[in-house]
Amino acid sequence: MIHLKFDYKNALDFVSKTEINQYQEAVSRHFAATLERTGKGNDFLGWTDLAETFPDELITRLENTAARLREKSDINVVIGIGGSYLGARAVIEALTPHFNCLRKKQGNPIVFYAGNNISEDYLYELLQVLQDKEYTLTVISKSGTTTEPAIAFRILREALEAKYGKEEAKDRIVAITDKAKGALKQLADEEGYETYVVPDDVGGRYSVLTPVGLLPIATAGLDIRALLKGAEDMSAFSARSTKIDENPVAAYAAVRHALYLKGKTNEIMVNYEPRLYFFTEWWKQLYGESQGKEGKGIFPAGVSNTTDLHSMGQYIQEGMRNLFETVLSVENPKHKLTVPEDSGNLDKLNYLSGKALHEVNYMAEVATTLAHVDGGVPNLRVVVPELNEQTVGELIYFYEMACAVSGYLLDVNPFDQPGVEAYKKNMFALLGKPGFEKETEAIRKRL
Ligand code: PA5
Repeated sequence: MIHLKFDYKNALDFVSKTEINQYQEAVSRHFAATLERTGKGNDFLGWTDLAETFPDELITRLENTAARLREKSDINVVIGIGGSYLGARAVIEALTPHFNCLRKKQGNPIVFYAGNNISEDYLYELLQVLQDKEYTLTVISKSGTTTEPAIAFRILREALEAKYGKEEAKDRIVAITDKAKGALKQLADEEGYETYVVPDDVGGRYSVLTPVGLLPIATAGLDIRALLKGAEDMSAFSARSTKIDENPVAAYAAVRHALYLKGKTNEIMVNYEPRLYFFTEWWKQLYGESQGKEGKGIFPAGVSNTTDLHSMGQYIQEGMRNLFETVLSVENPKHKLTVPEDSGNLDKLNYLSGKALHEVNYMAEVATTLAHVDGGVPNLRVVVPELNEQTVGELIYFYEMACAVSGYLLDVNPFDQPGVEAYKKNMFALLGKPGFEKETEAIRKRL
């Protein structure tokens, strides 16, 4: 039984069912190529059955490590970037309370993030906050050589060792990296940090259901068994039939492809819950890195409403008509709050008195959808009844599988990211990294 629903009736003014259904054969074939690991990039398809094959001993070990880190920390700093960061943050922010960092500690540490930028001010100010707190570090890098997390880890490790001494610091660091290679693996072995392995056959952006995502998520106090169960349910459900009418993954992949071929080259993920901001960021990386190559691919963007209705709303309503929207809609909030009656009624809001804020928010969603459809923006809806580990697990598998099938529909390899190397080469040349002497000389001439 799954809870996620997919609705594309508000796209049918722009693309017909017949046009969508013409991709049925291709969708079924790409589903099979993904599950049977025969498609492009098939050495990175280990994510497809992670949930159902996850070893129980590994879950228990993750839970035990998380409990140990929780005990030692007011703050757990997760150091990583891209696929080694966004999945954990997406889930943690979706499922933990807003303003968590200002709440009294309730057994679970606050999670802060580092190594996802190179800002001096960011790291300096983080160090200041950490000074008088109990903290631990979870450092994540599959390659073990990525510049941003490596710099952050070097600085944070030094501060941690200065505060606790080398022996205690060792117990406050967990490294998640390749099983054998990379600088982080070597350092972790030399220093004796507890380590977890990023599976060889799972790329960064598909790694949220490996220790990469699961350890930080468990450390934040969330139920990783329920998260895996959600993904497993979605996987089992979508394996039963690949028919567009029966399978939400197939439908989403087919509809977005049909829209793309009609010139809708930008997809905006829309949320009405601020706690989904980082889920949108995770989705942007997943789809951007998987599909944006060979001059092809839908550009993934995100808005958080109603906030962005007061900024991006204008463009979406009346700008270039190359957009479609996918609303990630949550039917029930966690809490109840109603609009109070006010005897003065100066703000003329008494017509809303007694109404739940969620109802007002939902009416904003319906109103916006209709306005945008009228303005020429097709609308898709992914709906979950509420946000919890089960439904977020379903969402993760739904988006991952649809991403693979969509990538194959475009005839690209959804599991590589050759384009992310270009800036790195320039940066290493500019910074004078040994081995880049020729590039340094060439790039300096261009400045
Ligand atoms: O999806 C990807 O492969 C990238 O975003 C990587 O996850 C990111 O660059 C971090 O790489 P690493 O885990 O090797 O430090």
